[in-house]
Amino acid sequence: MAKSYTLGEVSQHNHRHDCWLVIGGKVYDVTKFLEDHPGGDEVLLSATGKDATDDFEDIGHSSTAKAMLDEFYVGDIDSASIPTKYKYKPPKQPHYNQDKTAEFVIKILQFLVPLVILGVAFGVRFYTKAT
Ligand code: HEM
Repeated sequence: MAKSYTLGEVSQHNHRHDCWLVIGGKVYDVTKFLEDHPGGDEVLLSATGKDATDDFEDIGHSSTAKAMLDEFYVGDIDSASIPTKYKYKPPKQPHYNQDKTAEFVIKILQFLVPLVILGVAFGVRFYTKAT
């Protein structure tokens, strides 16, 4: 059975003379490949100490590059040791007009105010006639 390493163990191998990467749940010792990597050694060194799967995939490595992985395989990663990625959850959209009370009051007022004015007008007219 393949040896299982924790991310902490793999992270120790982050030097030019001892460089391990975690890609797709597997651990690769790429020390000998550092100088030959077409993308340079710096990118490989900076991809140590973490799950480099996304880094590896984002480049769009060729199938030749993927086939090369086997050569460097040393074991599997203990997935429990990899911090779970925080999934971005978009904040909930505020529900506009959730509280319809204000809207309702305005509608009532729009209806009532002209009525009141009309009432006052009639009242004034009635009283002025009476006197
Ligand atoms: C064991 C792991 C890796 C292997 C075997 C590998 C292999 C290769 C190969 C063969 C190429 C030439 C282009 C191709 O065939 O796709 C390449 C290019 C490249 N790789 Fe990797 N790579 C590995 C890991 C990584 C990682 C982890 C990164 C990023 C952090 C990376 C970044 C790049 C970049 C930037 C290029 C150059 C692309 C370009 O100039 O077009 N590689 N790699």
